Amino acid sequence: MARKKIIAGNWKMNMTPSQAVKLVETLKPLVGNEGVDVVFCVPAIDIIPVLEAAKGSNIQVGAENMYFEEKGAYTGEISPAMLEEVGVKYVVLGHSERRQYFAETSETVNKKMLKAFEHGITPIMCCGETLEQREQGITMDWIRQQVKVGFQNVTADQAKTAVIAYEPIWAIGTGKTATTEQAQEVCAGIRACIAEIYDEATAAEIRIQYGGSVNAKTAPDLFAQADIDGGLVGGASLKEEFGQIVNYK
Ligand code: 13P
Repeated sequence: MARKKIIAGNWKMNMTPSQAVKLVETLKPLVGNEGVDVVFCVPAIDIIPVLEAAKGSNIQVGAENMYFEEKGAYTGEISPAMLEEVGVKYVVLGHSERRQYFAETSETVNKKMLKAFEHGITPIMCCGETLEQREQGITMDWIRQQVKVGFQNVTADQAKTAVIAYEPIWAIGTGKTATTEQAQEVCAGIRACIAEIYDEATAAEIRIQYGGSVNAKTAPDLFAQADIDGGLVGGASLKEEFGQIVNYK
């Protein structure tokens, strides 16, 4: 069975609640595409207004982060139960910005992965190398480590439903999209790593996105690659252009 494409916007720290509602109203008529899962991953405070504004559309709503404990004295964090109760279906975990600025590690990402599955929330687990790592020729070693640690104790049935986003750090917000060949090569490597950890059937089902300066021009070629099942889109998800990305063909 062909994997359904999943195209997600990562709004990052953009859009106040009123701006968020306006953006959803603008994008709603532009992102209809039955063949694609469309997800808006939005700041915590925007989740409820975006869910309301997206009602009756194909837009699914995701969070940008989540803590791995059920509840308690963790000032400033948001729990998996809070997301589950309001109808959040996806959560971005281990984005490079969280690893870089907020001390997220593959170990904490793994704890969050396990919690997300427990609550029926699909993780979009991010991985990706720095420019230095690419130049040192250790891209795949690094990403295999991120994936192997991130998926510790995740069952094959859970892994089948997961999403992995390959986001080379040097391509994020820089306007430098990885070439389709570079993106496909790493996404294929990630799929091979999943086959090693689990089996071919799991590798054939898991969805792998590319992220990093995806735009309406680069999306068609990227999404046509055998191992690229969609994209995680930053800047261009805040504009009407996101409609063209979702309808890339
Ligand atoms: P840009 O599309 O703005 O490069 O961001 C990519 C990203 O980090 C998505 O998570």
